[in-house]
Amino acid sequence: MLAGVSVANQPVDLVGELDQEFTERVTELLERIEERLAESAAADTDFVTEAAQHTISAGGKRFRPLLVVLAALLSEEVDEDALIRAALVMELTHVASLYHDDVMDEAQLRRGAPSANHRWDNTVAILVGDFLFSRASSIVATLGTDYVTLQAGTFARLVQGQIAETRGPAEGEDLLAHYLRVLADKTGSLIAASAIFGGMVAGASPEVLGALAAYGEEIGVVFQLSDDIIDIASDSSGKTPGTDLRAGVPTLPILLARRSTEPSDARLLALLDADLSADDDLSEALGLMREHPAMTEARAEIHRRAEVARGHLAPLPEGPAKQALAALCDGVISRSS
Ligand code: IPE
Ligand code: IPE
Ligand code: MG
Ligand code: MG
Repeated sequence: MLAGVSVANQPVDLVGELDQEFTERVTELLERIEERLAESAAADTDFVTEAAQHTISAGGKRFRPLLVVLAALLSEEVDEDALIRAALVMELTHVASLYHDDVMDEAQLRRGAPSANHRWDNTVAILVGDFLFSRASSIVATLGTDYVTLQAGTFARLVQGQIAETRGPAEGEDLLAHYLRVLADKTGSLIAASAIFGGMVAGASPEVLGALAAYGEEIGVVFQLSDDIIDIASDSSGKTPGTDLRAGVPTLPILLARRSTEPSDARLLALLDADLSADDDLSEALGLMREHPAMTEARAEIHRRAEVARGHLAPLPEGPAKQALAALCDGVISRSS
């Protein structure tokens, strides 16, 4: 636990016990990012300000800002104001994508609060998402062309991942391969960009930037795999359990369960192909999935990939930042254990 760090409503408990001085520095930077986040969502009217700050003030793990901070602190010399702006760009881009994602997923709950589409309507959620993206764009412009290029390419990948998820696999395409590509694009891309942004503000070498990119991409996939398990396993994620199941999004546990030929799985397989709009059917499917060996298999795959992520850290300079990035591999897994 990163002792004493409490960002918004949720503690950042994804990294282990660390050197106290380092912990204090991370805490202080995250607090400064937090203040600037609310300011950067301020708009010309009270209504837009309220709608834009709504999801930001509801909390969130601030995983992407944390990665920017940890990657930047691999270097001894870092321009802290540039670091803070880089973290803001990543979180604002993320939050913008959440506003849009909740419209696409017809979600009602986000970060434990009503999602913007539910609290207001789809139009507000879409336009406020665009507004937050424009704020991210203004800030990234202050960092330089390399940052703008990376952020634009990242957002293009994220959006294409979302589109690919919505459209589903092409005829004859392997379902698992499609799913993993969607995860890498919709989630891995922005998490990798966060690690790279941190390295860039700290003037990291091309070798370190390459390692951060590979690590970020892998931990990003682990993060989304974990989130997909949480959709089934947890009643306390701040989101409605079974959202993916109900929407028919074939996440890893569901793809693995579908492969079963056990007669005892007949009811589950029928439910997975059925309309789960009735609450009773969704609860039954969730209950059966929670007990299914596919959940254990999916968790094993997460562990395996988290070790791959940890392996990418090898070229990084030793120190508390590298230790924290390694500890994040365990932190991301433990969310869904
Ligand atoms: C939610 O991201 C969307 C995914 C990519 C899984 P987070 O799990 O980082 O959400 P917050 O920021 O903590 O709310
Ligand atoms: C969200 O994916 C990914 C992005 C916002 C780009 P999900 O739809 O799986 O995330 P949650 O579960 O709503 O947070
Ligand atoms: Mg969603
Ligand atoms: Mg979605």
